[in-house]
Parts: sequence; structure tokens; C-alpha cells
Amino acid sequence: MKKRTPSYETRELREFAEVLRGRRTIELFLQTPVPDGLVREAIDAATWAPNHHVTEPWRFILPGERTVQKILDLCQRIVAEEKGVELALHKRESWAEKPGWLLVTCKRSDDELQQKEDYAACCAAVQNFMLYLWKAGVGSKWTTGDITRDPRFFDIIGVNESTAMIVGLIWFGYPKLTPTQSRKGLDEVLLHLP
Ligand SMILES: Cc1cc2nc3c(=O)[nH]c(=O)nc-3n(C[C@H](O)[C@H](O)[C@H](O)COP(=O)(O)O)c2cc1C
Repeated sequence: MKKRTPSYETRELREFAEVLRGRRTIELFLQTPVPDGLVREAIDAATWAPNHHVTEPWRFILPGERTVQKILDLCQRIVAEEKGVELALHKRESWAEKPGWLLVTCKRSDDELQQKEDYAACCAAVQNFMLYLWKAGVGSKWTTGDITRDPRFFDIIGVNESTAMIVGLIWFGYPKLTPTQSRKGLDEVLLHLP
């Protein structure tokens, strides 16, 4: 009997690829709240990311309203110091419109290679989180602006800067607008070796 090659052209795989390719960084969100249960599921999915030596180096923080207000105050203060009060207010207002907030931290390691691999694992976890939400119709934006390295930010979120780093501040919510993006073709990024 002839052995059949398993088909990779299945509907499930096409749909999965659509999620991978269709996810975009979202700037503008609707104010519709994202169900807590969905967020928890997405965080749980994040924890299934590959992580070398199974270090599970990530921690997830969901800031509540009071903490978000403190972050907004700090954001406004930082921008005011650097770029003036008008821009600072504008930035605060745009941040205040972000409906969902998640912070992802990575344990610090004294071992340089372990630190690199732990950070890589955390990035994979963030991607899991974002893709899980995207499949549920929820968009997100991963940010690593200056504020995420500011000691005052660490104080607000109660993270010890000497033992953990911030991998990202992730905003999430139902997209108001989904932008388009392009990517290089495979012929530009893929190399076959004999
Ligand atoms: C580690 C990391 C940090 C990022 N930080 C920022 C940021 O600080 N500000 C920003 O506008 N976008 C940030 N982004 C989002 C990228 O700009 C975005 O992924 C890129 O423009 C490609 O768009 P796409 O996500 O829709 O494919 C970050 C992405 C990654 C992976």
C-alpha cells in the first residue's frame, strides 16, 4: 500500500497561519473591557512558552486602576521633564485610553547565557499571550519605552530592579483600527545550505 504524505494544507493550519500573520500592533482600542477570564487564559497560554531548563523566568502583573493612575502620573512627569507639559498631557491622555494593562517581568540571572535564554523565553511568552488574545479578537501593543526602565516605575509596580527586568508593558483591548504591515519575502530572509 502506498504511504500518503500527511497534508499540511488543512483548514486548521490555514486558520492558525491567519492568526500568526494577521496579528498587528494595535494603537487605538475600543473601551469595551476584555473579560478577566480571557486574560487569565491568555496568561496561562503564555506560561506554556518554551523556556530553557524550565526556569519559568516570567512573572505577570495586572495593574489595577490605582496603579495605572500612578503609572499615568509618572509617564506625564517624565514627558513633561523632557518634552514639556503640553506633550506630557497629550501622552497621558493617550495612555489613559488603553483599556487593558499587563506587565511581564523576567527574573535576572548572574549567568549571562541563562539571562539571554530567560529573556528569550519571556519574549516567547509575550507572543503566546498576544496571539491567544488575537484569536479571541483582542489586539495588543508591546512597549518597552523609557518608563519601563525608570526606577520609579519599578517602585510603583513593586518589582525589585536588582532581581527582575521588565520585558514589556503590554496594552490590550478590542481594536478600533487594525493597521496593515508588510514583511520581506522569504527569498530575502531564508538561506538554504547544501
Ligand atoms: C520587544 C519589543 C518592544 C517594542 N516596543 C515598542 C515601543 O516601545 N513602542 C512602539 O511603538 N512599539 C513597540 N513594539 C512594537 C513594534 O513596533 C511592532 O511590533 C512593529 O512595528 C511591527 O508591527 P506588528 O507588531 O504589527 O507586526 C515593540 C515590539 C517588540 C517585539
